[in-house]
Amino acid sequence: MRRFDPAEHSASDIYKLMIGMVVPRPIAFVSSLDEQGLRNLAPFSYFMACTADPPVVCFVSSFRKTEHPTKDTLRNIVATNEFVVNIVSEEFAYKMNLTAAEVAPEVDEFELSGLTPVASELVRPPRVGESHAQMECRLRQLLPIGDAPGGGTLIFGDVLRFHVDEEIIAGYKIDPDRLKAVGRMGGPTYVRTRDRFDMARP
Ligand SMILES: Cc1cc2nc3c(=O)[nH]c(=O)nc-3n(C[C@H](O)[C@H](O)[C@H](O)COP(=O)(O)O)c2cc1C
Repeated sequence: MRRFDPAEHSASDIYKLMIGMVVPRPIAFVSSLDEQGLRNLAPFSYFMACTADPPVVCFVSSFRKTEHPTKDTLRNIVATNEFVVNIVSEEFAYKMNLTAAEVAPEVDEFELSGLTPVASELVRPPRVGESHAQMECRLRQLLPIGDAPGGGTLIFGDVLRFHVDEEIIAGYKIDPDRLKAVGRMGGPTYVRTRDRFDMARP
């Protein structure tokens, strides 16, 4: 086995280990608004579901290496307390990727990508119309982790409302072949969720 002491390697090399090892990662496609109501949309793959009661999800907004280290998504959530997590499907993965461009805060990534904003019910940020499953969230907690590039802020959200396309759900069971969620591997590589297997619980 090759061994790595994080203290002896650069943050960018440790990042490569993290994203190569923790795979596949689901993608939170997060919509938010700034204080003036300007829309923002960006993908985050340091993302997971935390609990069902209360329903909580979390993701990490990492610090940039530039002179403006805080990403628009985090700034908006701190200012407004609200966001929507949209699940990314194969059909619009390409457009999701367009929104990850490092653009100025005043750029509306819905317009940049051509994705469709659809009004939410309980929060002000819109949902992504093309997404088959979305969660309207209110900020629950921020957990700062480090303060340099490589670090970030873990953002917890209480899910106030779930939205699932009628076509992909039966009872509470979501059909993965219709959701067609994509996950992120290392670098520019993604996975589909078509190759699955079942195991009965012992
Ligand atoms: C699939 C994918 C996953 C990403 N995951 C993260 C992540 O977990 N944390 C992060 O800070 N940036 C992540 N990024 C980069 C951000 O999406 C990118 O920095 C974006 O410009 C941030 O937008 P904002 O400034 O509008 O919030 C990811 C990009 C892609 C394409």
